[in-house]
Amino acid sequence: MKLIAFEVESWEADAFETLGDRYDCLTTRDPMRSENVGDYADAEIISTFINSKLGADVLGQFDDLKMIATRSTGFDHIDLDHCREQGITVCNVPTYGTNTVAEHVFALLLALSHKIEHAVNRTRKGDFSSRGLQGFDLHGKTLGVIGTGDIGCAAIRIARGFDMNVLGYDVKPDESTAEKFGFEYVPLERLLERSDVITIHVPGSEKTRHLIGGGQFDRMKEGAVVINTARGEVVDIQALVRALAEGRVAGAGLDVLPEEPVIREEAELLRSVYEREHDLDTLLANHVLLHLTNVIVTPHSAFNTREAVQRILDTTVENIERFADGDPQNVVTG
Ligand code: NAI
Repeated sequence: MKLIAFEVESWEADAFETLGDRYDCLTTRDPMRSENVGDYADAEIISTFINSKLGADVLGQFDDLKMIATRSTGFDHIDLDHCREQGITVCNVPTYGTNTVAEHVFALLLALSHKIEHAVNRTRKGDFSSRGLQGFDLHGKTLGVIGTGDIGCAAIRIARGFDMNVLGYDVKPDESTAEKFGFEYVPLERLLERSDVITIHVPGSEKTRHLIGGGQFDRMKEGAVVINTARGEVVDIQALVRALAEGRVAGAGLDVLPEEPVIREEAELLRSVYEREHDLDTLLANHVLLHLTNVIVTPHSAFNTREAVQRILDTTVENIERFADGDPQNVVTG
């Protein structure tokens, strides 16, 4: 079976070597794009990460594609309808980053609440004054968790360790989970009104696009802090910039931004094709956020710990082998 793994660093390639003779395996550091997909059109199995946008235009160029093993939990970068129509099985890695991403939520939150970035920048310059570095306690504050699945619940567990009160909102509330982790489900509006810190853990989809927009920011407590490690598109980024400018939101910790692959290739902005295909207002809002001192942005790295990446590779190899054995696991194409 011809297998191509995209976005693979050299040290990750070893994991694919373990697949053995059954596969004709090629790994590349490149993401899959419409420009290079022609070089790999004979693949039967592909493995990608989130920087490869797998729309029908790209997937339609494969002659015999049977399986996509995405090395991520989210699968909003893949056109699942096209895959279903074409009989392509898509498998993900559901729980590898549960604690990892939740830990990153608190890395962002504590960095904001203790003004770590400013403090460190100051001491690096030999300035040990503490003026303007006053932060706030997490103890006794209310955390609102939007999406109480695996990562949301891991964040709740950590929050309880800080003695935070927790409110949850989910389209599928589970009272036994609330009881187990000690939080209360409330409607989204109540969560927005009552939370000091709001953290987002819903999947990216058409349904969750701009779940948090102007109306939601208006309902938030004055001075709320927003953390997003889910998907950039869940937050209306232009509305967030407005809420920050008005002081409604006091700070934001963002591991994800809309139009992420594009912001990575800033130079490409100069090309007219990008002006046509991408929302420049959103890109501009991203750039504003990157330069605000009360906003911390990480480059979609919440998942990126030694242990989590090993879990991704192990499960991906297992997903591929189970598919080849006719007994697929972690299938998201239904
Ligand atoms: P999960 O499937 O366990 O939980 C998602 C929860 O969101 C579910 O409880 C679901 O009912 C709820 N939900 C879905 N639509 C909703 C809506 N419209 N309103 C309210 N609740 C809704 O997923 P998990 O493992 O917790 O991951 C969440 C997301 O985190 C992933 O889909 C992915 O996009 C993102 N993620 C980000 C990473 C990073 O490196 N930044 C790494 C891993 C995941």
